[in-house]
Amino acid sequence: AEVVVVEDEQAAGELVAGSIVSLIRQKPDAVLGLATGSTPLASYRALASRIAAEAIDVRGVRGFALDEYVGLPVGHPESYRAVITREVVEPLGLTPELVRVPNGDPATIEHAGADYEAAITAAGGVDLQILGIGRTGHIGFNEPGSSLASLTRVKTLTEPTRVDNARFFDSPEDVPMHCITQGIGTILRARHLVLLAFGEAKAEAVAAAVEGGVSASQPGSAIQLHPHATVIVDAAAASRLA
Ligand code: F6R
Repeated sequence: AEVVVVEDEQAAGELVAGSIVSLIRQKPDAVLGLATGSTPLASYRALASRIAAEAIDVRGVRGFALDEYVGLPVGHPESYRAVITREVVEPLGLTPELVRVPNGDPATIEHAGADYEAAITAAGGVDLQILGIGRTGHIGFNEPGSSLASLTRVKTLTEPTRVDNARFFDSPEDVPMHCITQGIGTILRARHLVLLAFGEAKAEAVAAAVEGGVSASQPGSAIQLHPHATVIVDAAAASRLA
């Protein structure tokens, strides 16, 4: 992967926004792969500013979120559907029907993974996939042990990930036990991967992803199998790189 060390999240956000703006100018119906969590927020803000300032037509842009919790009530503010609406669709002015999030409704969960894969395929695949990385090394919610060929499916969240995500909920017990996530195989089909990481807490996971052996026990290392992966990190997240 190409590693770019930037000053801070804002600088990373400007870079990511620049790549996405060029993509949309070339392909007005570009397909974006959208991460949630804290990491991509500066990128979404920078992108919203550029779209407004340059009056870029984004009505045809499509999007696929990486993952969703299973079993949260519809409309729960921390469901990734709600987060994507609030942080991406509304500020960027995307067309809501063109932005999909895996369906975490337990009633339809058995075919939700296959449905999502079919939708990504029908859209012609993801052009640019934004990724964060967990302390555990997860990408999407593919925790260590996830097959490098996996497709969208239900997974159990690990305890460290539930603890990390408790900040978004009233109490740690409110963090769902399960999620539905694009698989590592799904992620690897995107045409360009952009993995972002900031802060010392991500340094080990970044080093394992970029320089460690490729292994299911370090899901982030799957980016080494991809021909076009860009890693954008601050100095703290880069601190364990050789
Ligand atoms: C989010 C996702 C996760 C996060 C990761 C980092 O859709 O799939 O892999 O990117 O947990 O989370 P933050 O950015 O909150 O540190």
